[in-house]
Amino acid sequence: MKIKKNMPLIDQHNKSGFWGGKFGGNFIPETLKKPVEDLEILFSKLRNNKSFIFERDNYFKNWVGSPTRFIKLENLTNHLRGAQIWSKVVSDANGGAHKIYNATVHCLIAKRAGKKYIVGDTGAGYAGKMLSMAAKKFGLKCKIFMGAKDIKRQGPNVRAMKKNLAEVVPVYTGSQTLVDAVSECMRYWVSNCDTTHMCVGSTVGPNIFVKICGWSTSQISRELCIQIKEEFGKIPKKLKLINCVGGGSSSFGFWNEFMHYDKKKVEFIGVEAGGPKKSKRHAAPLTYGSKIGVLHGAMQYVNQDKMGQIEETKSISAGLDYPGVSPLHCFLKDAKRARYTAATDEDALKAYQLVTKYENLNPSLEPSHAFAEAIKIAPKLSNDTIIIVNSCGDAKKDRDILRKKLGKKYENSN
Ligand SMILES: Cc1ncc(COP(=O)(O)O)c(C=O)c1O
Repeated sequence: MKIKKNMPLIDQHNKSGFWGGKFGGNFIPETLKKPVEDLEILFSKLRNNKSFIFERDNYFKNWVGSPTRFIKLENLTNHLRGAQIWSKVVSDANGGAHKIYNATVHCLIAKRAGKKYIVGDTGAGYAGKMLSMAAKKFGLKCKIFMGAKDIKRQGPNVRAMKKNLAEVVPVYTGSQTLVDAVSECMRYWVSNCDTTHMCVGSTVGPNIFVKICGWSTSQISRELCIQIKEEFGKIPKKLKLINCVGGGSSSFGFWNEFMHYDKKKVEFIGVEAGGPKKSKRHAAPLTYGSKIGVLHGAMQYVNQDKMGQIEETKSISAGLDYPGVSPLHCFLKDAKRARYTAATDEDALKAYQLVTKYENLNPSLEPSHAFAEAIKIAPKLSNDTIIIVNSCGDAKKDRDILRKKLGKKYENSN
């Protein structure tokens, strides 16, 4: 499997929508064929339309707050004594996470499509919070599907959605987490696609939703590329870009602009959720060699049992707690462009403690998985290696979990 250097990765699929001829596609019911086709046509026009790009860039700058900071984590670097550790603080973006880019673009598309209603899924609550914010901004009525387990563990984001007047629909089926929320959301869209636009919260789902999300979050690496050149004068010879991977939207967005560099120069490291140390359950299909199957309309590596049934996942981090992964990442794995590994719940908590001890940064449990990998490899690397971690979410939403696992001290640091 090979990546073309002169074409955006989101466009490197065949006519049937498969990346590498194998991942993605459109496994959708007959009733969705027309709405999906309409969306494909509209998006291909809008992404080449100057006024739409102007509108997007204007909202990214003046509402989302782009560019977000690119900072050196000097104290952490000095403590670990190895590679330099830097961070792209994407949690600076309006609402506290990268999900705002996808939500903003989807609302702009919905407006152009003349839709008055928008629906979305959420796990950690950030995709839902951001969609509720963008829907309010652009005058759309918003409904969010969220697993009942996630509603309990991500209280602050649920309150934010309600404050933004979104209807939060609890999902009680299956594991009551993100996978079930996405399924319910898609089911709802099947019966309401005439009036309603659907925003899939990550680079997952039928081909067009993967593309729109990847196109939106790529803003992160567009900014970072400029910031790196400003800081170092060029792209450093030994650069490692570390990002957590749930569905894969923040990591894809963090890497996209660097896709054409040789992996020896710019290495991509994706960190999945390894789950609790003593449990067999995890949310790391790329790391642990899960088989290929269909989930949410797309072919991908996905945790499944011998009969091909989707397996339940386990992770302290609601945003990573998903059995599948974007077809873009399956392609990157098979093309050997990115390396994937996993951090356990315990690793993520330890990383959170270390980062907050040394830096004024408050990464949520998702990027804490990425920090765990940075902390593991940095001491073994030379000082001219630049590690950049995408701190893609703020830990305010994790207040209750952090208090329970680490004590009151960490509640106050939020
Ligand atoms: C802060 C944060 N980071 C990461 C993720 C994982 O999703 P993705 O891999 O699509 O970035 C989520 C998902 O909810 C999230 O909220």
